[in-house]
This record gives sequence, C-alpha cells and structure tokens, in this order.
Amino acid sequence: MAGPNVGAKPPSGTAASGVADTGFVCLAAAFAALGGLLFGYDTGVISGAVIFIKRDFSLATFPQELVVSVVLAGAATGALTGGRLADRFGRRRTLLATSVIFIAGAIICAVAPSLTMLVVGRAVVGVGIGLACTTVPVYISEVSPATARGWQVSLFQLAITIGILAAYLVDYAYAESAAWRWMLGLAAVPGAILGLGMLFMPESPRWLAEHGDMNAAHAVLGRIRGTPDVGTEMEEIRRSVEHARERGRWSDLLAPAIRPALIIGIGLAIFQQITGINTVIYYAPTIIQSAGISSAAGAILATAGIGLVNVIMTIVSMWLIDRVGRRPLLLTGIAGMVLCLGVLGLAFRLISANATLAWMAVVTLMAYVAFFAISLGPIFWLLIAEIYPLKIRGLAEGTAAGANWIFNLIVSITFLSLVELLGASWTFWLYGALAVASWFFSYYLVPETKGRTLEEIERFWHSQRSSVVPDTAAD
Ligand code: BGC
Repeated sequence: MAGPNVGAKPPSGTAASGVADTGFVCLAAAFAALGGLLFGYDTGVISGAVIFIKRDFSLATFPQELVVSVVLAGAATGALTGGRLADRFGRRRTLLATSVIFIAGAIICAVAPSLTMLVVGRAVVGVGIGLACTTVPVYISEVSPATARGWQVSLFQLAITIGILAAYLVDYAYAESAAWRWMLGLAAVPGAILGLGMLFMPESPRWLAEHGDMNAAHAVLGRIRGTPDVGTEMEEIRRSVEHARERGRWSDLLAPAIRPALIIGIGLAIFQQITGINTVIYYAPTIIQSAGISSAAGAILATAGIGLVNVIMTIVSMWLIDRVGRRPLLLTGIAGMVLCLGVLGLAFRLISANATLAWMAVVTLMAYVAFFAISLGPIFWLLIAEIYPLKIRGLAEGTAAGANWIFNLIVSITFLSLVELLGASWTFWLYGALAVASWFFSYYLVPETKGRTLEEIERFWHSQRSSVVPDTAAD
C-alpha cells in the first residue's frame, strides 16, 4: 500500500529479518501484558459495580460519576509521569511498582468504609493503569525481535480486551449477591501475578545499554534471543545509544527530528478516543436498551457479545499485523468504523419506525467494535511504543498515553449529554466524521514500521529531519 514507509526492506541475515523468537520473550511479553488485563478489568468492572455502590453509600449523581471517572483522571496522571519513571528507573522496576500500586488500589477499594476511601482507592488504581499503559508496550517492544514485535506488543491490547470481557462476566456473576467489594478487590490477583512474574523477568536490554551497562545488555539480549550470537542487534543498539547521550527532556519532544513522531502519537491517541470506542465499552447496555431491547438479560447478552467480538478480532489483528503491516490494517479498520458509525446513526433515526432495526443496531455496534479491534485499538499502542527514539521513548510514549486518557475522560463524560443535545443519530455521525478525519491523518502521516528494528525506525526520523510529512514511498 502506498504511503510513508520506514527505510528499505531489511536484508536477510540482519537483526531485522531473522532473530530467533524464543519462548522466553513470549513469557516476558505475556507477564508484562497482565498490566493490560488490569487496565481493561478496572475500567470495565465499574459499570456493573456502581449500581450497588450507589445503593450502599446512598450516592447522588455526582459522587457516582466521581467513582467512575476518577480512574481516568488517575490514569492520565500515571501516564504523564510513568514515562519519566520508566526512562529513569527502568521498565522492569516501574512494572514492579505498578503491580504494588494495583494491589494496594484493589484492596483499598474492597475494604473502603466510606465514599472518600473508595474514591482514593479508585484514583490509586487509575495511577496503576496509567503506569501500565506507558511501560508495558515499551518494555515488550524493546525485548521483542523486529519480526514479531507487532503481535507481541498487541498482546497488551489483547489483555485489555480480555480484562474488559472478564469484568463484564464478573459483574454478571456477582450481580445477584450485589458483591461489589469482590468485583473491585479481585483485581489484586492479576496485580500480584504481574509483580511475581516481573521479579523473574530481565530489564530491557535497550534500557540497560542506554544506562551504560553494555555487558548486562549483551547478556540479557543473548538470554532472550536464546543465542550468544546477537552481535548485529547489539551493534544497532549501541549506535542508537550514541545518539542518545543525554537523557531526554520535555523540550526534546519538540526537536525537529522528533516532532513528526510526536504529532503521530498524540494524533492517534486523540483519534482512538474521539471516534467513540468507549461510548460503546462503558455504555453498551444503555445504548442497547435505547435501541429498543429493553430486557436486562438481552442487554447483558449483547454486551457480552460485544466484549467477545473485541477479544476475537484483536487476535485476528495480531495474526495479521506482522504479515500485512500496520498501515493496511489501520486504514481498512478505520474505513469500516466510518461505515458502521454511518449505519448506526441511520438505524437510530429509523428505529422508532421499525422495531426490528434494534437488532440491526446491535450487530452494527459489534461490527464497529470489530473494526476498532483490528485497527486503532492495537495499532495505537503499538506505534507509540515503536516510533520514538530511545532517548525519549518513555517520555514521548507517556505523553501520547496521557493524551489518550484525557480524551477518554472527555468523551466518556460528554457522551450522555451529547445524546441528549443532538440525539443518538447525530452523535454517532459526529464520531463518524471524526473517524473520516482520522483516516486521512493516518493515510498521510502514519509510517509503515513492519519488520523494521527500533533502530531503523529511529534513523528514519533523523533522515526526515526537515519535513513533517515523511516521504511517500511504495511499500
Ligand atoms: C483503548 C481503550 C478501550 C479499549 C477497548 C484500548 O485500546 O485505549 O480506551 O477501552 O481499547 O478495547
């Protein structure tokens, strides 16, 4: 597919083309991805829990909104500081701290005697989510070989979707007993597994090299590649470390060579949210009921179906991402989202005239989630972990993740008011128009990074120093 393309095809025999993908890397990636599971679980679980929390603490509307959205504010804070921490203290130590924060947050929520403590617990959990989403993708991208980086970083998105589905199911299972403390407290279990796992996983070799420990970097790289023959890859890392002699500062984010990557990361962060995904993830039962399926069982079933489609299509995307590349998936997926949002708007317009259209709306909702799951879902988190130079990787990734959480918050708290103001049809058409904009943004700016090492991607930006839009090259 025509469009910006990072460098030439890697010659065979280089680190880019053929390093071994060991089970050890998969294990490291899987443990780190547990951060995504907690991300999905903790953002998804509240939709069911809040009904009982409201009753137990006799909450009015605002305190309810606070319990739900303080997580998003905590996540934005965690994301904006997490990158700095991961650059300074290392990816592994930041993930260990993240696990402790998740466990603490889950326990505070589970035992909270008052609304204030509950809000504190949710804020702590939010900080954990923010730290996880800045550190996990970067850690995985730095330990994975170039040829498998796409699907391995996408494990993070897969874990998010499994977390959301698990949250829907746990909410359903505990609904009868109204056990919201269990719903929130259960998150301590994956939190503990994340911490235990990371105790045995190595630091990222790229971070070690950047901090001057070439011997340790070499040893870790040999261990995770399953061969002592890692000279070519080490040499590439050494060269990119030379570029990054000083620690990255906030002002470096605006350097001419980095600006285009920064625009892409923040742009995709915003587009991932303003095309409406979390209106579906957080409000699916409400949307489904307003489409005319009034039975609670029907709404729950349809919601679980949406969660399942999200998981399955993320797996499909992981299978395709290193084969067909990032750009074709991104552009096809966003085009599908545009189509679905258009149809959804139409369905809501005609529903009053024809009740069978309710199910058409639900099916379209599922198709919309499916298109998101092969495109903006995983590819946003993947690109922000791979397009930034080592020197400022954590910082820049954290900035993009922070923007993502801020816009998540904006969309989630304005959705119901928008529906009141514009009606469901125009609200979905508005997200559809923003999806059209995100297609053009991706078409003109997002480079293809399939199969390239992180160091090749870094050199690409330096070679593009003078132009914001990368040169167009045939893929
Ligand atoms: C987004 C989340 C969203 C999830 C849905 C993630 O990539 O960042 O905001 O809830 O996908 O699967």
